[in-house]
Amino acid sequence: MGNPVKKKLKIGIIGCGHWGPNHVRNFSSFPDSEVAWVSDLNEERLKFIRDSYPGIRVSKDYRDIIADPLVDAVVISTPTSTHYQIVKDSLAAGKNVLCEKPLTLRSWESEELVRLAEEKRKTLMVGHVFLYNIGVQKLKEYINSGSIGKIYYLHSTRVNLGPIRNDVNAVWDLASHDISIFCYLFDKFPEKVSANGNCFLRDNIEDVAFVSLMFSGGVLANAHVSWLDPRKVREIVVVGDQKMIVWNDMALEDTLRIYEKSVEGEPYYSDFGDFQLLPKEGNVIVPKLKLMEPLKNQSRHFIDCLKEGKRPISDGEFGWKVVRVLEAAQKSLSDGGKVVDLR
Ligand SMILES: NC(=O)c1ccc[n+]([C@@H]2O[C@H](COP(=O)([O-])OP(=O)(O)OC[C@H]3O[C@@H](n4cnc5c(N)ncnc54)[C@H](O)[C@@H]3O)[C@@H](O)[C@H]2O)c1
Repeated sequence: MGNPVKKKLKIGIIGCGHWGPNHVRNFSSFPDSEVAWVSDLNEERLKFIRDSYPGIRVSKDYRDIIADPLVDAVVISTPTSTHYQIVKDSLAAGKNVLCEKPLTLRSWESEELVRLAEEKRKTLMVGHVFLYNIGVQKLKEYINSGSIGKIYYLHSTRVNLGPIRNDVNAVWDLASHDISIFCYLFDKFPEKVSANGNCFLRDNIEDVAFVSLMFSGGVLANAHVSWLDPRKVREIVVVGDQKMIVWNDMALEDTLRIYEKSVEGEPYYSDFGDFQLLPKEGNVIVPKLKLMEPLKNQSRHFIDCLKEGKRPISDGEFGWKVVRVLEAAQKSLSDGGKVVDLR
């Protein structure tokens, strides 16, 4: 966590492919931050920035940005395989860092970055953007309030046709979101992890996977991730003993649906020795949510943390623990789904 900063913050964006321009747009939209620099290896991407934002300086070499003493913070939106070195160089140069998810490909790298940020007294935040999604925040509120009762399990579906990545598989690319959401909802990390998947399009890069996290207290959280599916689905089902909730990030109006359904009472035994549990039907409640762009909320949180010297919700340590879970899922994938104990 860094020292509080009061002035208008100067931001450098490193990596401006598909996702980076969203960071440029958001950090340019606040009265107390401005994008001073953008770096990308690709000249076409720099031309795009020059044409769209003539006031922003551009460079092919991110070291130009971190060498500028006027830059307060950098946002790293390059492929995951490059994060470790760029974050390390940026922290070493005394910059605060917001790095896209997942933080690194190996947990020892993330741990080293967390220690370096502490040593340099700089903020390290990871772009686990779903923690800043109003639907996920509301879901957490419902779980914390106890109104859905004892949680039995969660199931998340994050599938689409593409976008297909080269440097990471679908677990690192997509399940990183679900893992971050599950851990945020419960304020804890899983004790055990297992994963099954397959490489259909290319050797050694899993396109499809089923990742299961086991939390203390017996809660099971499962994520189905795929970039080889005909439909785009972004959904989490939470099943409690009192209520059940479906969060559908693709829905515009009924993002959250609370089902007042459960299974009642003790098993009922009939004269014939068989038993049945009784389903209890109830209302479906659709709370009104003020939808806001999650990435904008995340960018705002980063600026607020820098200005007020606060620790981000998705700080470096959170990002490091997500990488530990991803690493365990990868080990399980390579080991035929064997359970990996993280305790
Ligand atoms: N939070 C989210 O929902 C979300 C969504 C998309 C992507 N991401 C993350 O954002 C990151 C980037 O994803 P993307 O889809 O934009 O990838 P991309 O491949 O489209 O863009 C990456 C860009 O980084 C540039 N680059 C690579 N090495 C560089 C270097 N050393 N210096 C400067 N530029 C460099 C490339 O030229 C490219 O333009 C990934 O970590 C990804 O996981 C997050």
